[in-house]
Amino acid sequence: MIHLLSHLSYVAITTPDVEASVEFYKTEVGLTEVARENGSVYLRCWGDYYAYSVVVVPGDEPAMETMAWRTSSPEALEEAVTRIEAAGVTGEWFDGYKIGRAYRFVGPFGHSMTLHWDVERHQAPGHVASIYPDRPERRSKVAGAPRQLDHVTIAASNVDEFAKWYNDVLGFRIMARTVLDEAPISVFSVLTTNEKSHDLGVVLDGSSRAGRINHYAFWVDTYEELLIAADTLMESGVAIEYGPSIHGIGEQTFLYYREPSSLRIELNTGGYRNYVPDWTPNTWKPSLGSSNFYKNGAMPMSMTESFPRPTARRRPRRACPRSSARRCSTPTPGTAEPRRPRPGAAAGGPGASAFPLRFKEEP
Ligand SMILES: [Fe+2]
Repeated sequence: MIHLLSHLSYVAITTPDVEASVEFYKTEVGLTEVARENGSVYLRCWGDYYAYSVVVVPGDEPAMETMAWRTSSPEALEEAVTRIEAAGVTGEWFDGYKIGRAYRFVGPFGHSMTLHWDVERHQAPGHVASIYPDRPERRSKVAGAPRQLDHVTIAASNVDEFAKWYNDVLGFRIMARTVLDEAPISVFSVLTTNEKSHDLGVVLDGSSRAGRINHYAFWVDTYEELLIAADTLMESGVAIEYGPSIHGIGEQTFLYYREPSSLRIELNTGGYRNYVPDWTPNTWKPSLGSSNFYKNGAMPMSMTESFPRPTARRRPRRACPRSSARRCSTPTPGTAEPRRPRPGAAAGGPGASAFPLRFKEEP
């Protein structure tokens, strides 16, 4: 298989209060607003190479509308779509905002994924243009502002099946997984499209809702910047949910907090690079320090919360129309979802009933 995907290009999230979320991203996270289109707000980190990396979309509840990946070439985009449809999933082509012709589909566990090759590279306005040729814009003056978007971690009812599908169909390398000490149940796995330890994570979902997100993450260049971000968040009254500390898997330094919708975001830095093309995934246990390298602090139970919350009424998801990525979030009663290869594998499937109580989210 040719190398299909190059990296995560943007994440679109929904929020009931767009203005509150956007203000938070600008003042507390350090992103810059670049555009508004059909009610959605497009934001970027100072070091992102393309026009935007975060889209804040109006919605009833915090959720992920889609995660977008740039392919490795125009041919890779066509090949990826061929492979997706051969696996029994049908998406739709559409014209995306500043990404041109793109393909959006809903994977077997209900997650929307957008693939594209075309991009519009960021051109910084003169007052924020960098003096350095490689930088798309000068460094942010917000303390601890991330350089770029880093990864997304979703929730699925079967971690290993999720990883296998994205490995088989789109070539994500499976890097590691975590199996409970008490039972042979996979609760976490990390996958990557490149040399990073992961740009796609998956946590076990004990709810009956499909297509949920646990968090998405930004990258800061240094450990010191991450600590400064933690400091300024505390001074601003923003609670830090977990960290700063270091994950065993990936060895990144991490910091988790919530944006106003309650959606979890992460800052991370460090970690290893892995270029091995035929890597064999390692199996961790929580007792080995998979989430906490130092094994000196339990992950808070709140970290198992994913979005949208399981108690809210599910909004139907539909495939994307050709003319507008924004309208993909608008439910249309009676509109069929794209076909999925294994409907029985959706949330609530095998493994969910055996979900240990200490990892279980509310029903
Ligand atoms: Fe993460």
